[in-house]
Amino acid sequence: MDKLRITGGRPLNGEVTISGAKNAALPEICASLLTADPVYLNNVPRLRDVATMRLLLDNMGVQTETHGERGGMSFVAPDSLNPEAPYELVKTMRASVLVLGPLLARFGRAKVSLPGGCAIGSRPVDQHIKGLQAMGAEIVVEHGYMVAQLPQGRSRLKGARIATDMVTVTGTENFLMAAALAEGETVLENAAQEPEIPDLAEMLIAMGAKIEGHGTSRIHIQGVDRLHGCTHQVVADRIEAGTFLCAVAATGGDVVLRHGRADHLDAVIDKLRDAGAEIEAGDGFIRVRASGRLKAQSFRTTEYPGFPTDMQAQFMALNCIATGTSKVTETIFENRFMHVNELVRLGAKIQTDGKVAVIEGIDRLQGATVMATDLRASASLVIAGLVAEGETIVDRIYHLDRGYDQMEAKLRGIGADIERIK
Ligand code: EPZ
Repeated sequence: MDKLRITGGRPLNGEVTISGAKNAALPEICASLLTADPVYLNNVPRLRDVATMRLLLDNMGVQTETHGERGGMSFVAPDSLNPEAPYELVKTMRASVLVLGPLLARFGRAKVSLPGGCAIGSRPVDQHIKGLQAMGAEIVVEHGYMVAQLPQGRSRLKGARIATDMVTVTGTENFLMAAALAEGETVLENAAQEPEIPDLAEMLIAMGAKIEGHGTSRIHIQGVDRLHGCTHQVVADRIEAGTFLCAVAATGGDVVLRHGRADHLDAVIDKLRDAGAEIEAGDGFIRVRASGRLKAQSFRTTEYPGFPTDMQAQFMALNCIATGTSKVTETIFENRFMHVNELVRLGAKIQTDGKVAVIEGIDRLQGATVMATDLRASASLVIAGLVAEGETIVDRIYHLDRGYDQMEAKLRGIGADIERIK
């Protein structure tokens, strides 16, 4: 099992390139199921989760190929495809649920394993099922699988008005893909507004879909009879960019993030500026400068455009060594403080009570051996290791590899003393 060995205390200086967004690439790979034509994606990040999604589609009979060095990938989903997603693959990645909408829309049936829990909470898919049932799908759960089909005599899903109990990112994405080929109009009432949603919508529009309102909480989709192939560039990863901004804010230094989209990170950049980091944004880059201890910032995670839950653990690492006491409230997931105990092993002063964590800033963490528990917790521990005194070993970094494209190579490139040990 790979580990990272980090020797803390070095500032970060230089340039780093932000990869394509994991949470855009995953639904966009699934969108290739909506047509028999070839679909080309560029700027696909090299991640474990992308490899898993590719395997899932390959397992169904989709021809997938990679092209060149800039994350080019192509997909051809034949009519003879087997619309099933087995437990062995789905259990490792909850986002596998994203095949359900496109398979139902194109093939009228699907058998997808329930995702099972994950470290940050139970994360059910009841809203996905409810919305697709509203579009006419018959879905039963048996032997740990969602078995979905269209009723007798119906060859297509039908448009519907869908209002989920809470904002769901992959739920919104499943409905977008299903509605693109449904009969009639679909209206998504409390749709997710995360930037990955408009990016997926733009790809679907390039395939011939009729979508309006993407990026707002109300999306209209007019179903069409068929979709054709397209070429789409995956949007830059705002969470990877935010992670690097927090790292530089914590260690001090001066770094330019190439391809970073500041307009996708307003809530995080506001908090970093309040903390005392200098952030300059331009066309296709973000520059961050910081020196000395910053001021701890309280925040609560909410749906986009609010402070993203996927940045909570990383910013908490910064608060650990900032001045003052801060309060972090996690409103999206019920168990997303797994990084707290590991940060405490590094000397952090954190108390949690349900959804709230109170962090008392101290001037120095002590290196130690810590264990990653989920993707963003791993990133938090890497940031803590970069500022801790002495050596930190982060274990189980396969969690990190799920969502960060060559994280340690990028950090080494801007001056970090970090290496992967087998
Ligand atoms: C997406 O997960 C992201 N994953 C997550 O990123 C991100 O943390 C999350 O959105 C919130 O922004 C991908 O896009 C692949 P939700 P998703 O459905 O869609 C509850 C990362 O680190 N809910 O928006 O699974 C759910 O339990 C990952 O990159 C239901 O109850 O999240 C949660 O409390 C982690 N029933 C809340 O809604 C449902 O049917 C939001 O979940 C669906 C969701």
